[in-house]
Amino acid sequence: MNGKFITFEGCEGAGKSTQIRLLSEYLRRAGVAHIVTREPGGGEISEAIRRVILNGKFTAMTDECEALLYAAARVQHLADTVVPALERGEMVLCDRYIFSSFAYQGFGRGLSEIFLRNINSYAIERFMPDITLFLNISPACAFERKHGADQNDRIEQAGSAFHQKVYEGYQHLLEEYPEQIVSVDCSGTKYETNEKILALLRRRGIIE
Ligand code: TYD
Repeated sequence: MNGKFITFEGCEGAGKSTQIRLLSEYLRRAGVAHIVTREPGGGEISEAIRRVILNGKFTAMTDECEALLYAAARVQHLADTVVPALERGEMVLCDRYIFSSFAYQGFGRGLSEIFLRNINSYAIERFMPDITLFLNISPACAFERKHGADQNDRIEQAGSAFHQKVYEGYQHLLEEYPEQIVSVDCSGTKYETNEKILALLRRRGIIE
């Protein structure tokens, strides 16, 4: 597969979608073929799974069920969206991927790393990203920027202690996977963060 697989991680409100949009605009101007996609979701079946996972009414969903649904959405999304684009030689910009499961279901919900690695082994063994960009901003600052949580979103409702655990989880993951995940300080303006991301991707030889 010739295309590069770039994934974005961070807490709610870290500005992933804005940064993905700015990078996509840059790539379009530079004539780089790419797609923008997201997890959970991206294709018809994974978007249907997304609606189940995030449905605010499903408060009885177990943590294991949640983790399995994310893993199921991921496999389908790889098959119908990510892998075909990589095979066409296109760059894939994906909003969240495997490290979201480690951070949210692992550190946030407390599920074991072994369980998460097992249910995600299809993705881990075959399709690890070329680079993962972690947009580093604490949940408190991010929520302030975003003006609070979405009351219809099951994960956003989870409370500040949960989101703090997720954030700390990401800090552990940065230490555990120094080759795969790069932290991007996003305390400045969105344009400053975009410049940092471009510089980083140039250093890695992913863009010119
Ligand atoms: P979304 O509205 O896309 O949130 P954000 O804009 O912050 O990315 O919803 C995705 C939610 O799913 C988000 O709260 C993080 C969560 N998530 C997991 O818990 N595990 C996962 O593996 C993935 C991909 C997402």
